[in-house]
Amino acid sequence: MIKVAPSMLSADFAEMGRDVARLEAWGADIIHLDVMDGTFVPTITFGPAMCAALRKRTKLPLDVHIMVEHPDTYVEQFAEAGADYLVLHREADAHAHRTLQRIREAGMKAGVALNPGTSATEAEYLLELCDMTLVMSVNPGAGGQKFLPGALRKVEWLREQREKRGLAYEIEIDGGINADTARLAVAAGATVLVAGSFVFGAKEPEKAILALREA
Ligand code: DX5
Ligand code: ZN
Repeated sequence: MIKVAPSMLSADFAEMGRDVARLEAWGADIIHLDVMDGTFVPTITFGPAMCAALRKRTKLPLDVHIMVEHPDTYVEQFAEAGADYLVLHREADAHAHRTLQRIREAGMKAGVALNPGTSATEAEYLLELCDMTLVMSVNPGAGGQKFLPGALRKVEWLREQREKRGLAYEIEIDGGINADTARLAVAAGATVLVAGSFVFGAKEPEKAILALREA
């Protein structure tokens, strides 16, 4: 089953509690939280305090995508804030192997994200420690960008590795996802679709979520 994970990056930042409740009503499976530090990416969004605040407003799993330097610093803070998944960027952590272990030890599901310019094989020795893998199909930092098709080969590689090695991680794709690109991503093996502008920009967000799930 394909899971749809709308991104709160496209929500109204002055109405986050309302919007997370709306996503739940619209049929989202997972809530995607884009944490940006202004250093790993130029944008600053929000951190563990927002995660904790939204935790009180939804029962859906919180998928926290941390686009931050030194992700190891924030493991305990996000565990306390009620994150279900904590997904770090491979490029931001020379000791991603250790940090992924710490994320699991803290009681969360662990994930690794790859920038468009990063080879899938950068995750090769991390996959046993992953409950989630995240393929960026835009450069991180902003919503509303155009889908980069090179991401599809990475999704295929991750699916092959999962089968060959008998692993069970989700394969999430993030950036430029709409009904058309979702179809390509699912055909390549994606199991979780992140979408910001496609859901929040839709006239009927409920239908947009349904269109993604049926991709
Ligand atoms: C980008 C974020 C994405 C973003 C996707 O850095 O990781 O989650 O919200 O937005 P859209 O779906 O508009 O490309
Ligand atoms: Zn994201």
